[in-house]
Amino acid sequence: MGFYCEHIFPRLMEWVMAREEFCRLRSGLLASVHGEILELGVGTGLNLAHYPHTIAELHGIDPASLLPKIVASRSARASFPVYFQKHTAETLPYIDRRFDYVVSTWTLCTIPDAVRALQEVRRVLKPEGRLLFLEHGRSNDQKIAVWQDRLNAVQNVIGCGCNLNRQIDRMISQSGLTITHLDRFSMQGVPRLAGEMYQGTAVAQH
Ligand SMILES: C[S@@+](CC[C@H](N)C(=O)[O-])C[C@H]1O[C@@H](n2cnc3c(N)ncnc32)[C@H](O)[C@@H]1O
Repeated sequence: MGFYCEHIFPRLMEWVMAREEFCRLRSGLLASVHGEILELGVGTGLNLAHYPHTIAELHGIDPASLLPKIVASRSARASFPVYFQKHTAETLPYIDRRFDYVVSTWTLCTIPDAVRALQEVRRVLKPEGRLLFLEHGRSNDQKIAVWQDRLNAVQNVIGCGCNLNRQIDRMISQSGLTITHLDRFSMQGVPRLAGEMYQGTAVAQH
């Protein structure tokens, strides 16, 4: 990982993704989780403040260690146990049927083999467990989607592997998970190229 992705990009992420509208969406997504939680791509730990105090344990993985001091101080403030590991989502280091919820926010855009990662999510979810996702991706508006395709290579560089044009719901279905709820909306204050949102729930149905 180069200097830009290790040191500059995480600070940009903090600056953009800690804004009010991002916080509002994070809180809404996480308000009802309980039990044992796994978060994919924890980044700088921006979701930590939005989990209910009553969760049993939070596990998180990320192949990068972004702003580790900030992540450590956010983890220390949590009122529940937090266990973060440096790992990729494509091979999750957990036993089958371990988690009540898996959470993914603004991460399926970046995981290189996102379908493989989602197959792993299906494996580690309990039979009644749920994937909660809040992701940006491909627009339904063809005029926007064309530009997402054109600018994807640029975004890949400036976003350290981020893709603008992934059809998130299709990837989730391809993995064998079943989407039970999906909201599509354009995020306020974010250019549509990167603000076409997919928010919802999927189940494993073992
Ligand atoms: C845009 S950031 C989002 C961070 C965080 N989820 C949030 O909501 O603020 C994307 C994250 O995906 C992580 N990532 C990249 N490749 C990954 C992989 N193979 N498995 C899991 N996470 C990955 C990156 O390191 C980064 O932390």
